[in-house]
Amino acid sequence: MIIPAVIAHGGAGPGPSRQANLELAIKKAADILISGGNALDAAVQACVILEDDPVFNAGTGSVMRTDGSILTDASIQTGDGKVGFVIAMEDTPNPILVAADLLDEEINGLTSHGARIWADNKGHVKRKVVGVAPKGQIGDPEMEITGDTVGVIARDSTGMIVVATSTGGCSFRPPGRVGDVPLPGSGFWAEDGLAVAATGIGEAITRALLSNKVYEKIKDSTYSMEESLNWGINELISSEHSVGLIALGPSGPGLGVSNTDMPWATWEQESSQ
Ligand code: GLY
Repeated sequence: MIIPAVIAHGGAGPGPSRQANLELAIKKAADILISGGNALDAAVQACVILEDDPVFNAGTGSVMRTDGSILTDASIQTGDGKVGFVIAMEDTPNPILVAADLLDEEINGLTSHGARIWADNKGHVKRKVVGVAPKGQIGDPEMEITGDTVGVIARDSTGMIVVATSTGGCSFRPPGRVGDVPLPGSGFWAEDGLAVAATGIGEAITRALLSNKVYEKIKDSTYSMEESLNWGINELISSEHSVGLIALGPSGPGLGVSNTDMPWATWEQESSQ
């Protein structure tokens, strides 16, 4: 019997306390799964809660780029091979909804102005995102590791697994910059009954193709999930970069590991429910 489960994180790096906020998203996903809903709905709706909460660097709480603009990224992938991602969207407080709308399209990803035009045609909410100004000075390494990104992985009773991630990007990045969140294999990877999501400095995550490499490590059953996540952080990422990972497999609850602060939580349905 496959037991529904969810795991979510609220971004690696320092920032305001956000564990309780994160648990609201876990509860939302759990409620959907308990009532027989699917992993796609659970992951997307939990991600929307995180995007709508200004305490997280995603959606409403996205951090400003160096020109003061707010540009949002999001991605989603299902264990049966569908993917959708959007990059640098203006006026889009819930980019995960646009990314999810791409899952059944011929195209996988859209960027910037074109992504917004496509979202307009599909009726997605267009609203100015005020966002959050980054603290500190450009180039100050202490200030670059602002907590960033949200991620959710859900598993339903059919064994379908879905990973959803969303971000406003790292602090002090220019408007055209692309981070890890919308890049398959970097910020996320889901295949069959296993998924991984990353958070932290996107350049380090992208150079390492971190989520896919850790996915492969877990698949190689020589290593436990905990060993594989720690391997990803310790061996593939330089210790100067703030990075975290979550993963959820075909059984058991999920696991989160980070080299810095990273709120995360997991839930698994009790078998009697
Ligand atoms: N991890 C989010 C970013 O680097 O954009």
